[in-house]
Amino acid sequence: MSDRAFQLLQSTLQSGCKRGLWIADENLLSSQIAANPDFHAISNRWDLHQHLLTQGWQSEYSDFDFSQMTDSSHDRVVYRVSKEKPVVHHVINEAFRILQPGGQLWLAGDKGEGIKTYFDKTRKLFGDGDIEKADKDTWLGIFNRTDSQGPLLDTQQYPKLRETVADDNYHYWSKPGVFGWNKVDKGSAYLIEHLDSFLMMMPDTPKNILDLGCGYGYLSLNAAHLNVPVTATDNNAAAVAACQRNFERYPVNGKVIAADCAEEIQEKFDLILCNPPFHAGFGVEGDLTDRFLQSTRQHLSAKGTACFVVNLHIPLERKALNWFHQVEPIAANSNFKLIRLSHPK
Ligand SMILES: C[S@@+](CC[C@H](N)C(=O)[O-])C[C@H]1O[C@@H](n2cnc3c(N)ncnc32)[C@H](O)[C@@H]1O
Repeated sequence: MSDRAFQLLQSTLQSGCKRGLWIADENLLSSQIAANPDFHAISNRWDLHQHLLTQGWQSEYSDFDFSQMTDSSHDRVVYRVSKEKPVVHHVINEAFRILQPGGQLWLAGDKGEGIKTYFDKTRKLFGDGDIEKADKDTWLGIFNRTDSQGPLLDTQQYPKLRETVADDNYHYWSKPGVFGWNKVDKGSAYLIEHLDSFLMMMPDTPKNILDLGCGYGYLSLNAAHLNVPVTATDNNAAAVAACQRNFERYPVNGKVIAADCAEEIQEKFDLILCNPPFHAGFGVEGDLTDRFLQSTRQHLSAKGTACFVVNLHIPLERKALNWFHQVEPIAANSNFKLIRLSHPK
């Protein structure tokens, strides 16, 4: 387990308490940590949730929805802070609500993630807390919930889906926690600009489409005019909820599925659209691009075609040759390239 901040929380996760909650976010997949029946876990990542279940943890998959947890119902909450500020603020506010007086929030993170500012705000909300520097970058804070409540942290209404961005075709609904939640990603826009010319290169009109790593559903929505069923899938619970909402609003003929690189999806597709992630959590996971390529190979019908958009510096073509007989760059601008993949090996 390489994440130093998470290491600081392991002893408390392995100790006894009456009712503990572990908020499991980001890149903790390599952690092998024995299940503790005194804790239940909540994660917004499908892969991490599955990983915890296989290790014997009680785990729940949701967009950090604490609404079913009653006030003062826990005596410990353990959290290695997430990357996005509204998520962290939401979790800290909810931790205060669900902790009983005297209960503890254990919080860890790195200097570069703003952990010291989180500590200042948490101490004002909780009324009490100790912080400790583990090394030059990594800090641990333990906050005791007092009876008096200080100011809540600004969550930008974290749980709420809202209209965040629009273009000539759609008003997109999204929320903090979703990739690029309040903008249209330039790479994805580039793919859609070229979608019609890409389709002209296909021998037949596709009968179905997979949007792999769908986020709030930008690619799906902009392919919906093809009038064939669209399956959109993502690992992240906030993305799945936002995409589902956009599918219902327009409506899009299709379904949205929470899955890790589409693993749980058995169907094959004639067209796969993908703007793959290349960062996973706090680390840079070199093999994530490979996993997306491998999944594309598994899910592409024999005569199907996939279109990937990536930053120019990603060596997608070289990696893709492991999985496809045909790999062709079909367009590029100063930032992105579009790669066409066909004839799965
Ligand atoms: C670069 S974003 C593209 C989002 C969206 N297609 C768009 O165009 O705005 C990559 C997406 O992949 C998702 N993702 C990351 N790891 C994943 C995994 N293991 N399985 C499925 N989706 C994943 C992220 O949550 C994110 O929504």
